[in-house]
Amino acid sequence: MSKLIYVTRRIPDNGIQIMKDKGYTVDIGEKIEKPSKEEIIKAISKKEYDGMISFLTDPIDKDIFDACKTLKIVAQFAVGFDNINLADAKEHSIVTTNTPKVLSLTVAEHTVALMLALTTRTVEGDSFMRSGKYTGWSPYLLNGTDITGKTIGILGAGAIGSEVASMLHFGFKCPIIYHDINENKTFEEKFQAQFVDKETLLKTSDIVSIHVSLSPSTKHLINKESLHLMKKDAYLVNTSRGPVIDEAALVEALKEGTIKGAGLDVYEFEPKLSEGLAELTNVILTPHIASASDNARKEMARVAAENIVSFFETGKAINEIIK
Ligand code: GLV
Repeated sequence: MSKLIYVTRRIPDNGIQIMKDKGYTVDIGEKIEKPSKEEIIKAISKKEYDGMISFLTDPIDKDIFDACKTLKIVAQFAVGFDNINLADAKEHSIVTTNTPKVLSLTVAEHTVALMLALTTRTVEGDSFMRSGKYTGWSPYLLNGTDITGKTIGILGAGAIGSEVASMLHFGFKCPIIYHDINENKTFEEKFQAQFVDKETLLKTSDIVSIHVSLSPSTKHLINKESLHLMKKDAYLVNTSRGPVIDEAALVEALKEGTIKGAGLDVYEFEPKLSEGLAELTNVILTPHIASASDNARKEMARVAAENIVSFFETGKAINEIIK
């Protein structure tokens, strides 16, 4: 049966086509940049939409569900879904889905790129060249650190954490230690990884890489105390969600040399940066692009669309978020 779907911003065409092939009508939000909550409400209250595709920048809660009483499913175009109020969705009997696995490799590659950029001082080297400071080779110029053999601490041994562990264990012979709410035997066997408590991980890792989802229990998982546990020559990398790190505490730690450096793709007050962060040379900043490869984006569009189609055609979405 024909369905009416609202997509808050354009997704790759392959996703739209999957829904159109089923005879669904798909309306797409006009703005390229993120729509405000009011704009989403205005758009979805115009018609009797059955389903919706949302982005991590869309605040999805009871106001949205109340504005469109016919809505049955919200398919998120992302693996993270902290922008969706799951309690409100449950109360309104809205099925919610995400796009796990298809972006894991892409995010892992970006994570390792941040690590290597830190250890090889790539960004500093680039600025150095562009500002005309290079006067010739020197044995002491911008010396970095080898990543090979360094101990990597993975916080969150899920799909993305596993890809990162795989690249570093098999590619750079790095010992892997990890912490998560549960021990993960497969992770341990595949990467000869050792489960440790959070304190041990922070104290012994040369690089700490964060791969947890954002929830009240992971907000400020890395705070002033955690940063002080880390080694002075350790790096912190975050490609998960910004609020997992207390950003003011991180700025202070980077300024004071509590840790050596950080690589961030996500920010506590995204898109804003905490005061002082942009002035630091021992931090590398990217604009939440860890999953932004053409392939991952197409796959995310496919999975979001297939979740919608599967829900309406079979009664069951493929990647339903358990509430
Ligand atoms: C990106 O941040 C995602 O959650 O997919």
